[in-house]
Amino acid sequence: MSGGSDVADTTSLSCARCGKPARLQCPKCVELKLPREGAAFCTQDCFKASWSSHKAVHLKAKLSSLGTGTPHEQNSDLLNEDWLYCLKKGQARTPKLPHFDWTGELRPYAISRRRAVPAHIELPDWAADGIPKTEPNSDLQHVVEIKTPDQIERMRETCRIGREVLDAAARVIQPGVTTDEIDRVVHDATIAAGACLHFALRLQEAFVLKCGGYPSPLNYHFFPKSCCTSVNEVICHGIPDARKLEDGDIVNVDVTVYYKGVHGDLNETYFVGNVDEESRRLVQCTYESLEKAIAIVKPGVRFREIGEVINRHTTMSGFSVVKSYCGHGIGELFHCAPNIPHYGRNKAVGVMKAGQTFTIEPMINAGVWRDRMWPDGWTAVTADGKRSAQFEHTLLVTQTGVEVLTGRLPSSPNVFPWLNA
Ligand code: MF3
Ligand code: CO
Ligand code: CO
Repeated sequence: MSGGSDVADTTSLSCARCGKPARLQCPKCVELKLPREGAAFCTQDCFKASWSSHKAVHLKAKLSSLGTGTPHEQNSDLLNEDWLYCLKKGQARTPKLPHFDWTGELRPYAISRRRAVPAHIELPDWAADGIPKTEPNSDLQHVVEIKTPDQIERMRETCRIGREVLDAAARVIQPGVTTDEIDRVVHDATIAAGACLHFALRLQEAFVLKCGGYPSPLNYHFFPKSCCTSVNEVICHGIPDARKLEDGDIVNVDVTVYYKGVHGDLNETYFVGNVDEESRRLVQCTYESLEKAIAIVKPGVRFREIGEVINRHTTMSGFSVVKSYCGHGIGELFHCAPNIPHYGRNKAVGVMKAGQTFTIEPMINAGVWRDRMWPDGWTAVTADGKRSAQFEHTLLVTQTGVEVLTGRLPSSPNVFPWLNA
């Protein structure tokens, strides 16, 4: 590149959008002294048409000029680029907290860089570019699939892995641990799943089977992490970040594993140190409401009954049921039919049939049922800032009732006092 910074000098440059000879330059790029290639456009029309994608160049440049000195006590171990607050759909990150009328005390913290997935792991179709391709166009968004015996066997395996991964996360929860560390445990346990077989086959010098799971949330609609961690007033889809768990917090960890072509989805809400009485009641009530809902599952039962059972149990205790987020069908797709509302008087269609697989995942609030969305486009919080709890299982409808594919194991950590009575 030759020296001159003459704004009008676009000779020999071509339009960053259409490739025609360029006649103007983006003034912001000039101000920021960015490379003239990529800043040149043929016409105002091309410049305007490029704006939504082009402006990211400015943000990136500003961020890299910030240096490494941003002060923040909990983030000293994270690189400068990891300071950025994640904005919706992977479009951008900003170094400043956006203006928002936060509903409670919780705030977002730095998000660490994307964790790597080894090359041998089978990926869902959003892993590379953040966009699910099969899922939104599938007939299975309208028709509830009856799984084949082979699909069911794979669901069993995947859901069991999901359970072991969630249990691994539960074991590290204590005050001082960041939700990013929980994400690391989930990520590493997921990609390591099935590795024994991988290893054994290598030792025998047999062909290497694809194994190890993929953490389904990672890059799903651009979600930046491998699991969801939802603290206190967060209802669901909290993004693991550099915030340290504090004594008295409650935290939900939601794990989904993709393995052998199918997903297994489950979550639990954990206590961090000593938790107040009302929060303990909230978490126990949520656990029980899921148990009661599972207990009615069998062929012939209407999907809409699930919400009635959950609503009855939780309103009795003075809590409220979230309406914006529902349970879902699951299998080769992460989210598909049926839709399973958890609230009363819902309009869910259809009756259960043997061979169907779906989740029930009630989110129960201590105060009002209404939710708000943080500006990151993911974090759902209670409108009044009071706490929210959730539990989730992936279920199979059997001839006689239900199989809880993600059920607790004898090895699962003993973290819920009411299970000891
Ligand atoms: N696991 C969540 C569920 O229960 C979905 C998380 S999607 C993510 O349906 F992108 F937020 F991770
Ligand atoms: Co789910
Ligand atoms: Co889930």
